[in-house]
Amino acid sequence: MSGEAAVSAPGKTILFGEHAAVYGHPALVTALDHRMTVMARASAVFGRGTLRLEIPSMKIARTVASMHSVDSVKGPGDLAVLAVAIGTAGLEPNPYGFHVRIDSGIPTGAGFGSSAALAVAVVAACRRAVDDDIPLEEVGRLATTIERHQHGTASGVDVQAVLRGGVLLCRRLNGDIVEHEELPGAGARLGAFRLFNSGAPEESTGTMVGAVRVLLDREPARVREALAEINAATRDGCAALTRGDDAAFVPIVRRAEAALEILGVVPSHVCAAIRAIEAAGGAAKISGAGGRTGAGAGLVLVVHPDPAWHARFSKPGGWTEHRVGLGAPGVRTEVAA
Ligand code: MEV
Repeated sequence: MSGEAAVSAPGKTILFGEHAAVYGHPALVTALDHRMTVMARASAVFGRGTLRLEIPSMKIARTVASMHSVDSVKGPGDLAVLAVAIGTAGLEPNPYGFHVRIDSGIPTGAGFGSSAALAVAVVAACRRAVDDDIPLEEVGRLATTIERHQHGTASGVDVQAVLRGGVLLCRRLNGDIVEHEELPGAGARLGAFRLFNSGAPEESTGTMVGAVRVLLDREPARVREALAEINAATRDGCAALTRGDDAAFVPIVRRAEAALEILGVVPSHVCAAIRAIEAAGGAAKISGAGGRTGAGAGLVLVVHPDPAWHARFSKPGGWTEHRVGLGAPGVRTEVAA
């Protein structure tokens, strides 16, 4: 028996609520219309437990004889190996090995959701390849388990964004459960937001989440106040989006960014660039885990209600604009090439 499937998943951006999401606060997230495509082929020929993995953009072409023995992410490609192993573990006992090829248009390590897209698309493609179309909720649960190998406390909101697409208000409940509320049509009301890559941070998401936890232990009152401020900005941002009130985003984004800076997740040169944007009448915030050292803080959202302001905006040195649509569709099956 052999079967094949191709599945794509979008990138994501967190509009409001990063880091606070880890502590059970809501996050407002949206899917981006640049995607990752995963082609999976299941075949008894590869031998049970064997994985042939190809990721051309990372120059990875490797055969793993016993994928289930990989239990942590140490090097490039390990997350994909883990994703196939965890995503297909429920098929045991099964006679298949897998051939998986990943092609991605999503930047890595910069807050664009490439690991969540990989986890979701790999699980969905491998299960499709063996005609086992598990429900979206189950794909999400397995993908969150995979993400937790990267950082143990992943809130699951990134996975929900790439799984369901559109614009969502998500909140981690107890255990694996993440509740979500869809905001239909909201993607078309995000015209005030522009996306920039400020450069990849040195630190992983896990390192940044861990650093916030250390700060919380050291300065609980200050950190709790910052998390509450992020929570308030998320709720106000959601209300502004629902009303279609573009001008309201500027002060809300400034508040969210100020709270993230208290958490220590924005490097000083990115803070300086954001102060200049604020002085010019706009607002900007990091989106995702941020960073401390390295080229930048990853994804930064620059916000102003007037398109003419954006047209005049001169981006800081080293930043690249990502012109992508927001509110894109979630995971979907593609025609296998
Ligand atoms: C990372 O994209 C978002 C964080 O809030 C971590 C998480 O929610 O798992 C920093």
